[in-house]
Amino acid sequence: MPGCSLTRLLFTLFGLLDLTLANPIKANANPFLLARQTITPGGQPCGQHGPENRRCWRNLWNIATDPDVSIPPAYNNRYYDLHITNATNWPGPDGVRKHAMLINNQFPGPTIEAEWGDYIVVNVYNDLQDNGTSIHWHGIRQFGESNQDGTNGVTECPIPPGHMKTYSFHVTQYGTSWYHSHFSNQYGNGVLGALIVKGPASANYDIDLGPYIISDYYHETADRLHLQAELARNGPPPDSDNILFRGKNINPDGSGRGSYDRLTLTPGKKHLLRLINASVDNSFTVSLVGHNFTVIATDMVPVQPTIRKSLFMAVGQRYDVIVTADQPVDNYWLNVTLEANNNCGRSRNPYPAGIIHYEGASPTALPTNRGTPIVATCTGETGFTPVVPRNIPPNFFRPSDIASNTLPIGLNIVNHTTKGQIFSWHVKDTPISVEWGHPVLEYILEGNYSFPAAINLIQLNQKDTWTLFLVHSSLSLPHPIHLHGHDFLVLGLGTGTFDPQKHLPLLNYSNPVRRDVEQLPGPGWAAIAFKTDNPGVWLMHCHIGWHVAMGLGVQFLERASEMRVLMKLDQVVPNCNAWREYERVGNWLPRGDTDSGL
Ligand code: C2O
Repeated sequence: MPGCSLTRLLFTLFGLLDLTLANPIKANANPFLLARQTITPGGQPCGQHGPENRRCWRNLWNIATDPDVSIPPAYNNRYYDLHITNATNWPGPDGVRKHAMLINNQFPGPTIEAEWGDYIVVNVYNDLQDNGTSIHWHGIRQFGESNQDGTNGVTECPIPPGHMKTYSFHVTQYGTSWYHSHFSNQYGNGVLGALIVKGPASANYDIDLGPYIISDYYHETADRLHLQAELARNGPPPDSDNILFRGKNINPDGSGRGSYDRLTLTPGKKHLLRLINASVDNSFTVSLVGHNFTVIATDMVPVQPTIRKSLFMAVGQRYDVIVTADQPVDNYWLNVTLEANNNCGRSRNPYPAGIIHYEGASPTALPTNRGTPIVATCTGETGFTPVVPRNIPPNFFRPSDIASNTLPIGLNIVNHTTKGQIFSWHVKDTPISVEWGHPVLEYILEGNYSFPAAINLIQLNQKDTWTLFLVHSSLSLPHPIHLHGHDFLVLGLGTGTFDPQKHLPLLNYSNPVRRDVEQLPGPGWAAIAFKTDNPGVWLMHCHIGWHVAMGLGVQFLERASEMRVLMKLDQVVPNCNAWREYERVGNWLPRGDTDSGL
């Protein structure tokens, strides 16, 4: 195969032959990637990655290596089996039995772990009784692999019960992320887990403590809560019953059921903590009593080390932070604070917290210092500088770009024949509703470009062009806006209305914050931009589960004409046939007519 010999040649050139022989690319690695992977080393030899040398990675790559240009050769496949099951009468972490959906019988699901440049191969078994599923690898760029994005109705059909699907993708970036079901609100029933990719870091640390998932938690099923949330007469969406730290917390009802999560620090050491907000609805501020966070990555984008006392985390966002255990040996609260006006959701737990425990302190005592109360806002963090810069030429965008690429978000109250008045969110006047049985990738495979209006699809045909979108909302609620397949540049965020005369010249084109989820102010606007360098179909949506299920989404079909050559689109067909057969004869509750499917 030409790809293989090229790979070999380059390995030889860069003295990596031994490494390849010791770790040959596994035969079933995605063969379509081999010819395209870039293996040009990214810098001067820097030695081995270690506590005093975290900037370095495998000698020839480092924190300044641009992952769009150079990634380490893949020499490991990381295999995982995920079995998704119904758990009726699940004991739960806080003493309340409930119906859940779990992965390998645990919550959160198993952590998927890889190193920069590896392939991740995951067999997802849908062992649910009546529901489809699809697993989306949040924040993974899926460069050239849109067909592995796991978004039902967009890149695949849902996996029917009793069926299995293998996802296989290359991790071209490193850092912290998560995976979750994209089958309506299913992740709110427990179908989620952390996904971490090890690589260099912009500051040194001694110990990688792994993922730290914080997530809102409900005793009712997400499906039922969604039905409550959409009824206009119920007002704002349901409060969460609790907020869990790594899947644990005590029940705030005073019964003492459940237990606090306790994470151990080694005195004197620097710890890498990978913070993830994997909530359905709650966005919040995280702080650790007596300690600062040194932020080294926003989502999967490494940034220059930046010290913060607290961090606002919108749903879906991640921060890699370093915590130095330089305080007296003790237990400390890691607090989550919600904004007081409930614009970022509300929880029945007024003081959600986990415990950070110094080795040597009492293993059972609670922290005594509650900390200085944090005034939590609902506003996205700003002021981070990505290590690998992305710059757009000054004054690149014109008022005409704003006019054509504005994505207004809105809310309607509509009369539903059986439900009465319900909420319906929309982007550009369309509440998105995808076709589970006919995903966009299959349209492309068929050469069919007659897309129904309801799938809210925008075509982007220009190659490698910076493309701006102005997302705006005139309502007071902020929205965590997430884009698949790209990290976007946050050129500007503002409250109120975007005035091209006034605001266009103020946009920041010079290496602004880059990430895959940003909090859209409400009312306000977000000017985001990405380069059309990843042919595929990519969803952009509010990551509040209720909102996307009620229509708050849009999808970009990027460089459709190249997709058939780039990836095996026909891989979508067998599972789609199975799904369509299941829809026809299966014993399932049909999807509600107001459910976007996402
Ligand atoms: Cu966390 Cu559409 O994704």
